[in-house]
Amino acid sequence: MATASQIERHSMHSSIMWFKVEEIYNEFEHKCGIIKLKEVADAMTMEMHAGLACEDGSKLKMLNTHLNNLPTSDEEGVYYALDLGGTNFRVLRVQLAGKSGIKSQEFVEASIPPHLMVGTSQALFDYIAAELAKFVNNESDKFHLPKGRRRELGFTFSFPVMQTSIASGTLIRWTKGFSIDDAVGQDVVAELTQAMKRQGVDMHVSALVNDTVGTLAGGRYDNNDVAIAVILGTGTNAAYVERAESIPKCHGPPPKSGEMVINMEWGNFMSKHLPLTSYDSSLDAESLNPGEQIYEKMISGMYLGEILRRVLCRMADEAALFGDTVPSKLKTPFVLSTPEMSAMHHDTSHDLQVVRDKLKDILEISNTSLKTRKLIVNLCNIIATRGARLAAAGILGILKKMKRDTAKKGETPKTVIAMDGGLYEHYTEYRTCMENTLHELVGDELSEHIKLVHSNDGSGIGAALLAASHSRYLEADGS
Ligand code: GLC
Repeated sequence: MATASQIERHSMHSSIMWFKVEEIYNEFEHKCGIIKLKEVADAMTMEMHAGLACEDGSKLKMLNTHLNNLPTSDEEGVYYALDLGGTNFRVLRVQLAGKSGIKSQEFVEASIPPHLMVGTSQALFDYIAAELAKFVNNESDKFHLPKGRRRELGFTFSFPVMQTSIASGTLIRWTKGFSIDDAVGQDVVAELTQAMKRQGVDMHVSALVNDTVGTLAGGRYDNNDVAIAVILGTGTNAAYVERAESIPKCHGPPPKSGEMVINMEWGNFMSKHLPLTSYDSSLDAESLNPGEQIYEKMISGMYLGEILRRVLCRMADEAALFGDTVPSKLKTPFVLSTPEMSAMHHDTSHDLQVVRDKLKDILEISNTSLKTRKLIVNLCNIIATRGARLAAAGILGILKKMKRDTAKKGETPKTVIAMDGGLYEHYTEYRTCMENTLHELVGDELSEHIKLVHSNDGSGIGAALLAASHSRYLEADGS
């Protein structure tokens, strides 16, 4: 039986722990109230203006995509897409049948070996081109094109690129754990084209697109009201349709459509209104890209699990969460991924078995009490909630820039937002919180006019669609 002093020590320990959780709650969630989120949204709108005014006008790059026409559903034929954006990449073949939609689609997925994410440009592109070669070499005869006609490819490259045309652009910098110095400043389409040549792949890149832009294009193909696309995945970003006259930094005659798709690169958003904590600052300082992608580091899938790990480390150190010492595994950066965090957060078993297993399997921590496990679920909730609420504030910022943030009597346009990314797709608590917060921010009336749709794999299909609409054969055929 426990002695009185043991019981006293135990209850003191547990109140210290809950006191710490309270402290962490105050640092994270408490600073994400509606007023704060509206300030964040206003700051986003302001930075959007600044980024559109001139190059280097803001941390928000607001990149001109040179895309002024979204798919119309008239696209026909077989087109390809290569989707490189995170730890995986995909090759797709899409058969488009005009107004009848997509006739067929096939894809293969492969992961990028970690050493290639930090190696040389040639090694990375050769690896991708080799996978592309396998895909086309294995395809059935029915996809073989007439002699002299090359396969057309849409290249989804989900990193910040300064585009010089719809099918060319130089890499500004890497994000999401990639760091290949010799690729920065290079034209990524030229790099891919050379690698394809080396691997004997006869393909022509007719569109270079960010994943947000692909998602926007894929979303518009399905629904004419899609005007914004948001990715919440390993990284995070948004693209939207801007009026050409509102882009002072774009000189030259405006496009016929009067519109231009802008890749915001919102992951790099920074504002004094962002509720940064000491965990964010240390995560940033120790990252591959300190000072960059601050918003992304607070809300996206690459980082949420790592924030949790940092919080747990401090709880272990300052409140002996796991006993007298900090478990050594817990000290390893990025050991806790966001999917693991999500699994713990969604644990509905009465004794939090999933949490127990994750702690044991990943962090080698056994014999945790139910109280400790509950506390961990609480921390997951605090961290995910902050990310989701800030993401919703970002969307409100775009709606404000587009002047779609208030309901107008009788003429409120419908705004459909195409959403994609693993975080949005799989982290239900995050997604629900983000959607509820957006509702809370825009109010009941406007909420009816704003719809979020999951554009599953929109970015790949979107890139194939854009390859079709920018194919040189369209012009050559006079179609
Ligand atoms: C990162 C990239 C951006 C991409 C986003 C989502 O923020 O810089 O280009 O769209 O991740 O994949």
